[in-house]
Amino acid sequence: MASKTVLVTGSSGLIGSEAVEHFDRQGCEVHGVDNNMRRIFFGDPGDTTWNLDRLRRDTNNFTHHDLDIRDRIAMETLFRSYRFDLIIHCAAQPSHDKARDIPILDFEVNALGTVNLLEATRLHCPEAVFILLSTNKVYGDAPNEIPLKELETRWDYARPEDYNGITESCRIDRTLHSLFGASKASADLMAQEYGRYFGMKVCVLRGGCLTGPSHSGVELHGFLSYLVKATLTGRTYSVFGYKGKQVRDNIHSYDVVRAIEEFAANPRRGEVYNMGGGRENSISMIEAIDRIGRMTRKELNWRYVDESRKGDHICYISDLSKFRSHYPHWRITRSLDTILEEIIAAQSRLQTASSGS
Ligand SMILES: NC(=O)c1ccc[n+]([C@@H]2O[C@H](COP(=O)([O-])OP(=O)(O)OC[C@H]3O[C@@H](n4cnc5c(N)ncnc54)[C@H](O)[C@@H]3O)[C@@H](O)[C@H]2O)c1
Repeated sequence: MASKTVLVTGSSGLIGSEAVEHFDRQGCEVHGVDNNMRRIFFGDPGDTTWNLDRLRRDTNNFTHHDLDIRDRIAMETLFRSYRFDLIIHCAAQPSHDKARDIPILDFEVNALGTVNLLEATRLHCPEAVFILLSTNKVYGDAPNEIPLKELETRWDYARPEDYNGITESCRIDRTLHSLFGASKASADLMAQEYGRYFGMKVCVLRGGCLTGPSHSGVELHGFLSYLVKATLTGRTYSVFGYKGKQVRDNIHSYDVVRAIEEFAANPRRGEVYNMGGGRENSISMIEAIDRIGRMTRKELNWRYVDESRKGDHICYISDLSKFRSHYPHWRITRSLDTILEEIIAAQSRLQTASSGS
């Protein structure tokens, strides 16, 4: 990747910042676009300024652009000023639940913002590789139709053929998405279209739970990160429905960025992949509460609300077979315990710093 010019949108967020650091380490010229809109969505706890400061400190060839991806003229001007080889589009309104309060803003950021970037790429650097961070919420609640069995601490798939989880063939329409899932599905389809119709090197990654120490975790987004924060700070955590046995697969932001790197080295046109931690990195809510409790030696204060979140998955594990078959050098390098250790260490440092200040 040396001497490539890389654009990362959402560069102060979890995946964006990991991408900036990674490609900067590879010797690329890296441009980041982020207007700290996470703070507008989630208030002060969502503020990503600390992460931008960290990037500015720790990188060699990174330029930050405080721009809004909804601003088509600003995106056009940026793409006229630099010739990008790789575009990693991570900027988003990322919360399933938040979208219902801000439907227009959610759609503008997730759908329109993505089209602005796809079109700027087509006009100014059509040979570039374009990666869209999409989500498993594009499947809506269709994954809940798979027969499940109830185990002591988690739900699991009942049939052996579902053991590896959800594949890309799961349908994306005629299901309840949440407005977020629908705006992301719009972006997902448009990105695929630019790949198929215009023949561009577009990759759509449908994320499970993407996580890591650089998440500005808030209650409405960033499951493990917020769970650790709540445990360490003693605040009350609410578990919604499914007896707390709902299952998520978790992938470290580094492994997501490694997948992006693999695709960029051998791109295809308009491909879609599920991208999560897979079965080995899956955990249920009550298992996570227990495991974090043992690791931090602190008991989480939590309450059960006997109503599930609208459109929430009961058991979601990403089947990674398709990505693995196209990119056999890629693998999960961070286990769930490693991920948790990193998040706990990072949050403990933040806590110590804030109590000392
Ligand atoms: N974290 C997850 O669990 C998860 C799961 C599935 C999919 N995804 C997807 O992955 C991508 C990255 O997620 P993340 O966890 O890094 O999110 P994040 O919120 O940590 O980062 C997104 C960044 O985009 C910025 N941003 C938002 N709107 C913007 C705008 N209009 N213009 C410029 N910048 C803007 C925010 O300030 C934030 O820093 C998103 O598309 C998200 O939907 C995330």
